[in-house]
Amino acid sequence: MKPSFLVAYATSSGSTLEVAQAVAETLQGCGLESEVLPAGKVKSLSGYGAVVLGALLYMARWLADARHFLSRFGGRGPLASLPMAIFALGPFHNKAEELQSALQQLDKELAKFSWLKPGAVEVFAGKFAPGKLSFPYNLILPLKKMPASDERN
Ligand SMILES: Cc1cc2nc3c(=O)[nH]c(=O)nc-3n(C[C@H](O)[C@H](O)[C@H](O)COP(=O)(O)O)c2cc1C
Repeated sequence: MKPSFLVAYATSSGSTLEVAQAVAETLQGCGLESEVLPAGKVKSLSGYGAVVLGALLYMARWLADARHFLSRFGGRGPLASLPMAIFALGPFHNKAEELQSALQQLDKELAKFSWLKPGAVEVFAGKFAPGKLSFPYNLILPLKKMPASDERN
């Protein structure tokens, strides 16, 4: 039998995966079985009773695998009738104005899915690892020189 919660995530540098694992541990601490899977690898939602979907924000977009997850399973699919929570990782600093701006970016992305009625939508401060920047961002010198930070709670 599948665990009752699916925690699906999309990450670029790994910090969103760690948050997804922390979410799953919290659920397990409440006695709720959960499974953590990359959003792009989920083949079916059958057997799950609820879904948590998390991904980072990148250049004001929510990572494609998370958006594709909503397209693949939403609309007339199973996701529309499952309880769901959504989170995004974004700002480098845990400051109200940065979190608010990231929430606006996320809301704009979610508004494209008219059927979507998540029970909770949260934005968390993220992690910046200059050594893990992917192409073409690893070529942007001012970005590479920014200090590493991790403001995840
Ligand atoms: C090149 C670049 C662009 C980013 N763009 C945004 C953005 O538009 N909005 C935001 O809130 N966070 C942005 N971030 C912050 C990331 O979402 C944050 O670093 C996150 O923790 C990365 O998650 P990951 O380790 O799972 O890939 C950006 C980070 C990088 C490196």
